[in-house]
Amino acid sequence: MCGIVGYVGNKTAVNILLDGLTSLEYRGYDSSGVALNIDGKVQLFKAQGKLKNLRDIVEKNYSDISKSTIGIGHIRWATHGVPSIANAHPHTCNCGRVAIVHNGIIENYKELRAKLEAQGCTFRSQTDTETVAHLIASKFAQTKDLTEAVRLATMEIEGAYALAVMHQDVKNTIVATRRNAPLVIGFGEGENFVASDIPALIQYTKRAMYLEDNQIVTLTPTEAKIIDSEKNIIPLKIETLPWEPVALSKMGYKHFMLKEIHEQPDIVRNVLTGKLKTIDEPISLNEVTLDVKKLKELNRIQIVACGTSLHAAMIGKYIIEDFCGIPVEVEASSEYIYRKTITDENTLVIGVSQSGETADTITAIRLAKKKGSHILIVTNRPDSTMAREADSLVPVNAGIEVSVAATKSYMAQLISFYLLAIYIAEVKGSIDTKELMELKHELILLPQKIDKILTHKENIQNIAKKFSSFKDFIFVARGINFPTALEGALKLKEISYINATGYSAGELKHGPIAMLDDTMPVLAILMKGKVYEKILSNAEEAKARNARMIALTDSDDKKLDELFENIIRIPEISEILSPALAIVPLQLLAYYIAEFLGKDVDQPRNLAKSVTVE
Ligand code: M6R
Repeated sequence: MCGIVGYVGNKTAVNILLDGLTSLEYRGYDSSGVALNIDGKVQLFKAQGKLKNLRDIVEKNYSDISKSTIGIGHIRWATHGVPSIANAHPHTCNCGRVAIVHNGIIENYKELRAKLEAQGCTFRSQTDTETVAHLIASKFAQTKDLTEAVRLATMEIEGAYALAVMHQDVKNTIVATRRNAPLVIGFGEGENFVASDIPALIQYTKRAMYLEDNQIVTLTPTEAKIIDSEKNIIPLKIETLPWEPVALSKMGYKHFMLKEIHEQPDIVRNVLTGKLKTIDEPISLNEVTLDVKKLKELNRIQIVACGTSLHAAMIGKYIIEDFCGIPVEVEASSEYIYRKTITDENTLVIGVSQSGETADTITAIRLAKKKGSHILIVTNRPDSTMAREADSLVPVNAGIEVSVAATKSYMAQLISFYLLAIYIAEVKGSIDTKELMELKHELILLPQKIDKILTHKENIQNIAKKFSSFKDFIFVARGINFPTALEGALKLKEISYINATGYSAGELKHGPIAMLDDTMPVLAILMKGKVYEKILSNAEEAKARNARMIALTDSDDKKLDELFENIIRIPEISEILSPALAIVPLQLLAYYIAEFLGKDVDQPRNLAKSVTVE
């Protein structure tokens, strides 16, 4: 989704803005732009498509552009108005003295636009953002104070925003503010930064502060002043970021996605560290505040999430119900928020989100919180909005994930669900000790098994090549791996654009079987356990319709060789833990198909890493 960078200091601003925007590219975008102050005049440079196009424009005018030591930059993911240069940010007011960049959606922009047009403003774009540039300019005309102009403008704006603003007449100053969209300030020596996410700052400074909703920061090279919407001064609470810039490098892999898939054994070890110490010690989750009393009073758990996090949540349901005997409902956050949800103080509501900034999930947890539910957040970003609003937190420790397609964060979410379910089961005493010890032992062995898949991936590469020209793909499974089928299909469709769908194998004959013929690959996830034989029968039915059969299995059953054209064999694992292993070959399969087709693996079209609008 859109990304913002602002810089004011003593260096060439455009270099810092372009580097910052590059490190936000993973969020997904379709156009970009910067506003700079060159020889006392605000000037805009914008381009459609990839950042390279903006870099080319900058290069042509570099001798002038490089003079500016202040600027704001933006990558845009279109919401209001098509991707185009006119709609790309920054936007300006009539006279071009105010320049702004914006993330989020201004919900009342139509009313504001009508009012501003009636006052003589001329609009040059179809965006909601341009209204804010005109609004700030009109407030500045009254107050001659940029911070106050921004404050007054935000009082008239409805919706979500992170804004960075500069004005030609207010030298060396950027004013920034936010409501329901993330914004972080970076503090340097004789220079200050503002950005929508840490990767844009981390190579310049590790000293940062997250702005809260409705706070306004005024940045000059040597100062950062924060006020709230009532003009109260907010003291600076600067923290040191733990991140290393090296985490953002591909480390020799062709794509971030491939690197992130390969990080998964270490991610599992990271997630387990400090939480699962030995198999006979209880799991410790320090930031979970649910005690025996609270747990006994719980009558249900609801989990809200989107996309890949939703699939992790669906597996979480199986695990929690199995270990803890508490009924669990899982729902897409976007569905949860617009109906009468039955939630109360005896419901634990779990929000799952890699980014911790997904707008629908934030709205869902706020809704549940208002109804008195305890909010537990499972996130990869303990610094995110969701984490800050949580009553309990399970940080998943996957490190920054750059590729839009979630892989290692999904793995970390799954492992976190195992730990959470065991934690609740141990507090409640709902699970047999021997079973618990076996499970913990298996969790400790999991990284080695993932490693084994990663070191023997030629078979998956060959299958990827063979099936890359197919237009459709079906993934089937049952039980705890049904969400694995959904996630395998999501991975494939989002990076290769092949029409891939996941089905419960038992549902095939209730409709989807009509699509089967020799143009349809069907990948069956056949892990040993309760539903193994059932899926095998479903696979026979698909084979009888000439579907091109692929198996993903931990079984060495010889019957499979007759039924399946290709088999991906993975190490043996207990059924309950199998989703954490079965997903790895599916991530690789999606990756190699997309790579073979020459797709933009890390930044698939139309997608954003962090979906901060509803
Ligand atoms: O940051 P979140 O986990 O809340 O994001 C939810 C989805 O947008 C995300 O999982 C999306 O589906 C991924 N691109 C999938 O790879």
